[in-house]
Amino acid sequence: MLRKKTRWPSRRIILDTAGTGPLVSTAGSEPGSAKIITEGEEAMAIEALRQTELAGWKVRRGKVRDIYDLGDELLIVATDRLSAFDCVLPSPIPHKGRVLTLLSRFWFHYFADRCRHHLIAVVDRDVPQGFEPIADQIRGRSMRCRKTEVVPIECVARGYLAGSGWKEYQQRGTVCGIQLPPGLRQCDPLPEPIFTPATKAETGHDENISFEEACRIAGRETMTELRDKTLTLYRDAARYAKGRGIVLADTKFEFGRTPDGILLIDEVLTPDSSRFWPADRYEPGRDQESYDKQFVRNYLQALCDRGEWDKTDPAPSLPQDVIQATSGRYIEAYERITGEHFET
Ligand SMILES: Nc1ncnc2c1ncn2[C@@H]1O[C@H](COP(=O)(O)OP(=O)(O)OP(=O)(O)O)[C@@H](O)[C@H]1O
Ligand SMILES: [Mg+2]
Repeated sequence: MLRKKTRWPSRRIILDTAGTGPLVSTAGSEPGSAKIITEGEEAMAIEALRQTELAGWKVRRGKVRDIYDLGDELLIVATDRLSAFDCVLPSPIPHKGRVLTLLSRFWFHYFADRCRHHLIAVVDRDVPQGFEPIADQIRGRSMRCRKTEVVPIECVARGYLAGSGWKEYQQRGTVCGIQLPPGLRQCDPLPEPIFTPATKAETGHDENISFEEACRIAGRETMTELRDKTLTLYRDAARYAKGRGIVLADTKFEFGRTPDGILLIDEVLTPDSSRFWPADRYEPGRDQESYDKQFVRNYLQALCDRGEWDKTDPAPSLPQDVIQATSGRYIEAYERITGEHFET
């Protein structure tokens, strides 16, 4: 059952014309451009956050998140940035950061009795001291988390044959070196979920590695624990998602060390860290529709086919209809998984 719709407090649109591009932009507006918004338009305009900036604070920016060091804690702000074909696109996607944050919170709570995690609280009314100037930007989209020493391995669980796994299987009959039975089709379920670690590359693609290689990097005891945890969490989440009409084909977890043990960190089981397929359209033997980024990929691929982009930076901005459709897909993923209405 969906909850009754209530409105997220509306905020003014702030546009920055000072060269670095808008900190907050209306969907589809060009980076660096200013737009005067009339009253009528403002009601319709949907704002999106491309990056945060706060004088006096050093920020570390990932592809999607801005990370502030609060001492013992981190403030992890999920912006509305979207990456596709390994490039961060200039057009932010309205609501995306809040969807990622609230979906991660849903899963942290869902797993709470089975897995210790880094989430202290989603920032809502009370913002951390010093963050008052950007309170409206960070509310609902940021998490106060325990600071950890990140285990430099992406812990991937795969239950279906897709992406780089399908490519390797066609060439060698294996996925990340794990032998699989012959005759599997693209996107077929695997006989059982497998653990396929990857390095956390500073730049460029993360690289798949064998379990033995992961043990050399992070230690056998740690990797054995993380492999078992990863597969247990994946199985549980996949069963849950299936009941809500989503095939969870694969996902990536990250873990971090603290003095009192290993915690599940980062984002959890979002469309950015996982392959979600709509179960009613799932059909092995072909590529599946990506739940969230299909419209973006189709649009960008068409540009590439016409020779107008080559999948390197800078990426082109997206048209309004692609931005809106993508935003809608993120929200749909949230609502399907949680069964809750997403307040826009
Ligand atoms: N509790 C935590 N302690 C320390 N680092 C964390 C914690 N949770 C998440 N991180 C790190 O914060 C970053 C999140 O930002 P984002 O998701 O935008 O990065 P990314 O582009 O995926 O980058 P990366 O390739 O470094 O993972 C990641 O580098 C992640 O490893
Ligand atoms: Mg990330």
